[in-house]
Amino acid sequence: MLSLLFFYSSFFISANADADAGKTIFLLAGQSNMAGRGGVVKDKWDGYVPPQSSPNPSILRLSADLNWQPATEPLHRDIDYLRTCGVGPGMAFANSILRLDSSIGVIGLVPCAVGGTNITEWARGGHLYDQLIRRANASLVGGGSIKGLLWYQGESDTVNREDAESYKGRSERFFDHVRSDLLLPALPIIQV
Ligand SMILES: *[C@@H]1O[C@H](CO)[C@@H](O)[C@H](O)[C@H]1NC(C)=O
Ligand SMILES: *[C@@H]1O[C@H](CO)[C@@H](O)[C@H](O)[C@H]1NC(C)=O
Repeated sequence: MLSLLFFYSSFFISANADADAGKTIFLLAGQSNMAGRGGVVKDKWDGYVPPQSSPNPSILRLSADLNWQPATEPLHRDIDYLRTCGVGPGMAFANSILRLDSSIGVIGLVPCAVGGTNITEWARGGHLYDQLIRRANASLVGGGSIKGLLWYQGESDTVNREDAESYKGRSERFFDHVRSDLLLPALPIIQV
């Protein structure tokens, strides 16, 4: 909670300063909790979008083929495409940012989460890591700046005690690598 409050305060100071400079971009990564399973029952999404996740002309998503388009649920439908996606936290996050500061301009969401994945699969050198960096990089074409990574992952690392105990080190290494490869050493990371 403390880090979240810190994130909001530092984020708004810098975001207001360059609201005209392009999109305010957030990377979304992790496993199913981020990809979104809200409203999915027996591999079918019920199509219900809660009010806090409704579309807004100021919220875009980067599609799997790297085009910006109006963001709608399920945000990860073409990224976590082997599973049935539903409602996740991304749209509600973007809507709440806009509620707090409607002058912020356009928010760009970059969905990258894949269900069932473990922290080892996200390590630098692997496919998920490459895709995250490649999509983050592509999101900057056309203007904007990356203001945060929302990371919601870990359940796959609770099966074996050894993995659970290694999680802190593995996740810190992953975060360090992302910040370093994106050349954003102070990139805010919100972790659930
Ligand atoms: C992570 O997932 C991969 C692919 O499913 C698997 O091969 C590997 O054993 C898992 N690693 C850990 C540490 O759980
Ligand atoms: C990032 O994008 C630039 C061009 O905008 C390109 O030259 C570079 O290779 C890209 N890097 C990655 C890791 O995709």
